[in-house]
Amino acid sequence: MTSEPSQIPRDKALLRAITPADLPVFYRHQADPASNSMAVVHPRSRDEFDAFWDRVLRDPGITARAIVVGRETVGHISCFQMDGLDAVGYWIAREHWGRGIATRALGLLLSEVPIRPLHARVARSNAASIRVLARCGFRLTVFRSAPADDRFPACEEALFVLD
Ligand SMILES: CC(C)(COP(=O)(O)OP(=O)(O)OC[C@H]1O[C@@H](n2cnc3c(N)ncnc32)[C@H](O)[C@@H]1OP(=O)(O)O)[C@@H](O)C(=O)NCCC(=O)NCCS
Repeated sequence: MTSEPSQIPRDKALLRAITPADLPVFYRHQADPASNSMAVVHPRSRDEFDAFWDRVLRDPGITARAIVVGRETVGHISCFQMDGLDAVGYWIAREHWGRGIATRALGLLLSEVPIRPLHARVARSNAASIRVLARCGFRLTVFRSAPADDRFPACEEALFVLD
């Protein structure tokens, strides 16, 4: 049984539809070096970022939500297709790490999106993200070596599934 994050009241971190005003905020979040180091990912250039979000927001098959605490946009979370599988991903602004926000946001997304199984791919070194997945019921299926590509440096990754 998991415990609730104690740092923020449960009703404070919420999901809502993404608006154009969120995109500059997301751009700053995804440019943060410590965040990219944790996620083992290369940040997107401005053009790559704009093209990515234009595609995401036009795709009715993707559920993408802003994560807000009070009036502040603190991150985003989404359900999308990855290598033909339904997958989740999330990103929280560094100044809000460790407040239970990702755990809460993933719980909310799982309530909203009925699709199962859901998959997640995470760098093995990303202990915080692995903990978020475990707290939300995802189980580890395998570790594997992932080669470098334009988006990701080579790394050992962990695959998770929620049945
Ligand atoms: C990973 C990330 C989403 C976590 O967000 P968050 O809001 O800080 O997560 P939460 O506070 O809900 O939970 C983090 C959990 O990891 C734990 N944790 C944090 N750092 C840890 C570490 N180095 N080792 C082990 N556990 C760790 C926390 O204690 C917490 O667990 P607990 O609630 O049982 O105490 C956030 O750090 C982030 O956006 N990082 C950059 C982008 C990224 O990695 N995205 C995911 C890609 S798969």
